[in-house]
Amino acid sequence: MPEDGSRPPPTRPNAFYVQTSRQPQPGLLPPVDRCTGVVVVHLREGFDPRAVGDAIAACPSAPAPPSADAESLVAFAGRSAAVHRPEVLHVVVGIGTHRFGAFFPDSPLPKRLGEFEELCSADGRHRFPATGGDVLLHVKSSRQDLVVGVVEHLRRALGRQVAPGGFALQYGATAPDGRNSFGRPDAGSDPRSTANPSLDVGPVCRAYPFGEETYRAEHLPEQLLRACGPAGLRRRQELAARDLHADLGRIATSCIGDEDSAHLNGSFCLVQRFLHDLGAFEALPPEARDAVFGRRSQDGARLGDDGGDPVRALPRAHVVRARVRMTETDGRADPSPCLQNGPGASLAPLQIYRQGAEFTDGDGTRGTVFVAYARYCDTFDLILLRMLGRVAVWPGSPPDVDHLLEFTTATTGQYFYVPNLEELAALSEHPLPRDGTDPF
Ligand code: HEM
Repeated sequence: MPEDGSRPPPTRPNAFYVQTSRQPQPGLLPPVDRCTGVVVVHLREGFDPRAVGDAIAACPSAPAPPSADAESLVAFAGRSAAVHRPEVLHVVVGIGTHRFGAFFPDSPLPKRLGEFEELCSADGRHRFPATGGDVLLHVKSSRQDLVVGVVEHLRRALGRQVAPGGFALQYGATAPDGRNSFGRPDAGSDPRSTANPSLDVGPVCRAYPFGEETYRAEHLPEQLLRACGPAGLRRRQELAARDLHADLGRIATSCIGDEDSAHLNGSFCLVQRFLHDLGAFEALPPEARDAVFGRRSQDGARLGDDGGDPVRALPRAHVVRARVRMTETDGRADPSPCLQNGPGASLAPLQIYRQGAEFTDGDGTRGTVFVAYARYCDTFDLILLRMLGRVAVWPGSPPDVDHLLEFTTATTGQYFYVPNLEELAALSEHPLPRDGTDPF
């Protein structure tokens, strides 16, 4: 602390973005545009990781091009983006987290990597199935034909490395008013009404704004004290005394930071496909529809914030189940409801960067392809468990399931590791030269 007693300026935990050659894939940070394509590829048994790596990242003059007529995906997407500028074309490539060792045999596992496992609500009515997937392609564009071009290019480039029926493609779109199938303002559309980060860096906020004093036993309700225990309380006091700051920007939210420098600016991606029962949702009166999400449809305002406690007022609301908070310096969230919602939790939500898109199947079924990026895989784990009611939102609260799950069903689910640019290039023995220009 400076001698005059003033507080030191907040640090920006992820300012590394501009300091390293291990950049995030540039397609990751821009928000969704009008058109989306999401491909989850299942590779054939005994696939050749080098052939797959070349199909993704080889330079056009590689001695063995991925297939007779196809340059690698990265080369094609970069060329396509350059030719069609100023149209938008952003591409992100990931690999199933369980395949990390196959694609990066000489690299340590990312510290916060996790595998997507099937999850179920206590009564078995709601399920998040784990459907696997080895390669992810996420395309965002202002033009559908550009999305189709990149998707079809991947299909050709991967050729016979793909398992029969293993190319699961979902096109999606964002409505002009940015509302999702439920008529709600969603993530990227209105940064004022969402926890979705809208700036690369910042805003930086104090994680434990109430100070050390708050964590003294005499200030805490009996129930919270019991749940924290003396050790938990001491840990919170120590954290508060250190006056930590959290950066709520897109980079800090989605990219691995100094906690795992071997994978700096890599990221984790969750992909889930949901099918909706909009008839049942639309049969509800307007206030009940708002309560499902916990936000007012009209302006996105959070319900129960006006002097009340939204967590207790609407424990089933989607935004209540989905908002998890930092409880540790390295961004770990302690799932205990006491630490999540008692004074022990940080003010800063542990965010994920949501980039879903909406679709309508040929038979009129509506759905959402949910895509989100996060710096830690376990942030997803915790949100999913809270949505299924497997983790309570306050000590002793009933095992409520996210109200939204009454109107939507997940049909797929998988976690992907999104390599930084250096790792992406290393997938091929003949990578594109890095001349500092944006490859997409
Ligand atoms: C069909 C599936 C889903 C739909 C339609 C949906 C829709 C929404 C809507 C309308 C909001 C409020 C507006 C906003 O903040 O953007 C929201 C917030 C949120 N959702 Fe979802 N969501 C879905 C699934 C998920 C899943 C699977 C996760 C995480 C694994 C998730 C995580 C979040 C988070 C973190 C928030 C912000 C909560 C906060 O205010 O702090 N959502 N979602």
